[in-house]
Amino acid sequence: MLSNLVLFASVASSATAYVVNNGTTCYVYPESLTHFGQPVDDTPSILHAFELCGTNGSVILQNYTYNINQVMNTTGLVNCDVELHGEMRWSDNIPYWLGHSYSVTYANLSTAWFFGGENVTFKGFGKGQFYGNGQAWYDENRNNSNQPGRPIGFTILNAKNLWMDGVSWRQAQFWHSFVSHSQNVTMSNIYMNSTSNNTWFTVNTDGTDTWNSRDVFFYNWTVEGGDDCIAIKGNSTNIVSRNVTCYRTHGMPIGSVGQDPTHPDFVRDIVYEDVHLINSTNGAWIKAWQGRATDITNNGQAGGGGGGSITNVTYRNFRIENVGQPISVTQCVYGHDPSVCDTSKLQISNITWENITGTSHFDVASIIHCSPLVPCPGLKFIDVNITTVNASLGRPSLPQVNLCANMVDQNATGEDATGIPCHGFAPNDMPNVLYRNWPELLSEVILSVTVPEAQRDNCLHPGPDAAAAGCAPPPW
Ligand SMILES: *[C@@H]1O[C@H](CO)[C@@H](O)[C@H](O)[C@H]1NC(C)=O
Ligand SMILES: *[C@@H]1O[C@H](CO)[C@@H](O)[C@H](O)[C@H]1NC(C)=O
Ligand SMILES: *[C@@H]1O[C@H](CO)[C@@H](O)[C@H](O)[C@H]1NC(C)=O
Ligand SMILES: *[C@@H]1O[C@H](CO)[C@@H](O)[C@H](O)[C@H]1NC(C)=O
Ligand SMILES: *[C@@H]1O[C@H](CO)[C@@H](O)[C@H](O)[C@H]1NC(C)=O
Ligand SMILES: *[C@@H]1O[C@H](CO)[C@@H](O)[C@H](O)[C@H]1NC(C)=O
Ligand SMILES: *[C@@H]1O[C@H](CO)[C@@H](O)[C@H](O)[C@H]1NC(C)=O
Ligand SMILES: *[C@@H]1O[C@H](CO)[C@@H](O)[C@H](O)[C@H]1NC(C)=O
Ligand SMILES: *[C@@H]1O[C@H](CO)[C@@H](O)[C@H](O)[C@H]1NC(C)=O
Ligand SMILES: *[C@@H]1O[C@H](CO)[C@@H](O)[C@H](O)[C@H]1NC(C)=O
Ligand SMILES: *[C@@H]1O[C@H](CO)[C@@H](O)[C@H](O)[C@H]1NC(C)=O
Ligand SMILES: *[C@@H]1O[C@H](CO)[C@@H](O)[C@H](O)[C@H]1NC(C)=O
Repeated sequence: MLSNLVLFASVASSATAYVVNNGTTCYVYPESLTHFGQPVDDTPSILHAFELCGTNGSVILQNYTYNINQVMNTTGLVNCDVELHGEMRWSDNIPYWLGHSYSVTYANLSTAWFFGGENVTFKGFGKGQFYGNGQAWYDENRNNSNQPGRPIGFTILNAKNLWMDGVSWRQAQFWHSFVSHSQNVTMSNIYMNSTSNNTWFTVNTDGTDTWNSRDVFFYNWTVEGGDDCIAIKGNSTNIVSRNVTCYRTHGMPIGSVGQDPTHPDFVRDIVYEDVHLINSTNGAWIKAWQGRATDITNNGQAGGGGGGSITNVTYRNFRIENVGQPISVTQCVYGHDPSVCDTSKLQISNITWENITGTSHFDVASIIHCSPLVPCPGLKFIDVNITTVNASLGRPSLPQVNLCANMVDQNATGEDATGIPCHGFAPNDMPNVLYRNWPELLSEVILSVTVPEAQRDNCLHPGPDAAAAGCAPPPW
């Protein structure tokens, strides 16, 4: 083994592109080795390796740091095994990325790397790491949402039978990853952590999102990020997330869906199982846009009026600690204008929340507001046991409430019962991130128009702006 490595290294030093290949296996060496440790761009070598060994071959990035200064498109791989033993480090050249990131089509977002093909593996052995230099983006972005051109770190596109295992992400530029137009993708033993080191929030550092994909499996994940942990967007079928721990995220949302009137979103057969949420603004959450298009730019672009449906979803075995809004359904997610809420025709049905236990930040366990145009049938709550953080600490606490509107059978008893009582009416423009107990919350709903969403995060992620954002003092 040692002699092989020596041989390869000596061949490597005379190669033009820094790739050593024997026909089927391409070893990539970083340029820094021949440039006195200078961080020279390794993108050309990596792309060259995929050209040489992307079909019926292997691409091996060794235990070095590789500098990635340019976009990469390595789709169309066939029977290719990729190994990452070291670190890929994306440059913080913001003007370059703003001008060159590839469009992913979804919501006008873009990416630094398209990766895809058939029968592909990507193994990191628990050591391989993507370092996105995200702090530069958090500082540049200044708490704004969806800055055009700010790149998703890694996008799996047009993949079939892809297995990614044992890879970690640090300081992602934007969403850590995205699974688009793919089938039979597994991502297992994944660690993601993006944390801002100053007062600017990370914002939009989702762990992953799925879109136009089926049979996607996320197993054994740990995510700390500040936005959605694992989010499921339109046209996703048979997506399983199992054994996922999320710190300081927006939880496990399905959505947003119904943003685009010309492209309906169909979501079905979704399982979130064995999930641990800690210090999260939201938990098991379904979010749809209102039924009428508006030009509210909160999420980076106008939206609403899209059709489609969400059905057959199970949230099972959730352990929650200090979650702001543990269970919720909204059909006016970025509307913030009660007069356009209640216009959604996107049907939500057959959703089960089972064995959800732990603590909530406020006195709200669930808020379900379905559109009156399409009330939600088949909502079931089994073994939902949530107490407030205060109550769990033996401190004075308001009793837990479940708020609801337009659930089919919401007051039924016997077989048809939903499994939870309805304590009050859930307004159609409930804020996505709570910062008050109920019923005080109701009189404050209108505040959601003026307090930027990122600032409202302060209620769970206390920072210097917490008072300005009108947060209740933390219960601990
Ligand atoms: C190329 O190297 C790989 C890894 O060492 C080895 O498995 C493969 O058999 C080699 N292929 C050829 C054609 O020598
Ligand atoms: C990888 O390289 C780092 C830094 O050179 C070293 O500390 C570490 O032991 C190496 N890991 C392996 C598995 O060789
Ligand atoms: C990426 O490469 C594929 C070929 O695998 C090509 O069809 C596609 O147009 C490329 N995408 C971009 C954005 O360059
Ligand atoms: C991918 O693997 C499957 C199962 O081994 C095989 O049937 C299929 O032909 C492979 N695809 C390609 C493009 O080689
Ligand atoms: C799905 O992909 C995995 C690799 O992750 C492969 O082992 C399996 O055979 C694929 N399943 C089908 C039905 O092709
Ligand atoms: C994420 O990284 C931060 C900063 O390094 C660290 O304090 C925190 O413990 C990490 N979170 C997890 C879940 O590993
Ligand atoms: C925050 O991270 C950036 C980028 O890594 C670094 O340059 C800066 O020194 C860090 N600031 C603090 C206060 O740690
Ligand atoms: C998840 O982690 C456990 C414990 O490390 C391991 O036994 C199991 O194989 C992992 N699951 C997958 C799909 O890798
Ligand atoms: C869940 O995943 C974590 C890694 O995120 C692993 O340590 C743990 O063993 C896994 N648990 C099970 C039951 O697979
Ligand atoms: C979802 O798939 C349907 C076809 O089944 C298509 O008409 C629609 O445009 C797709 N939606 C999105 C958001 O891609
Ligand atoms: C619901 O989804 C589960 C998990 O994907 C699947 O096993 C089941 O068959 C689906 N049920 C219906 C009625 O489609
Ligand atoms: C949750 O947040 C509280 C308050 O900021 C903090 O004290 C606690 O350490 C956090 N818990 C974890 C597991 O990060």
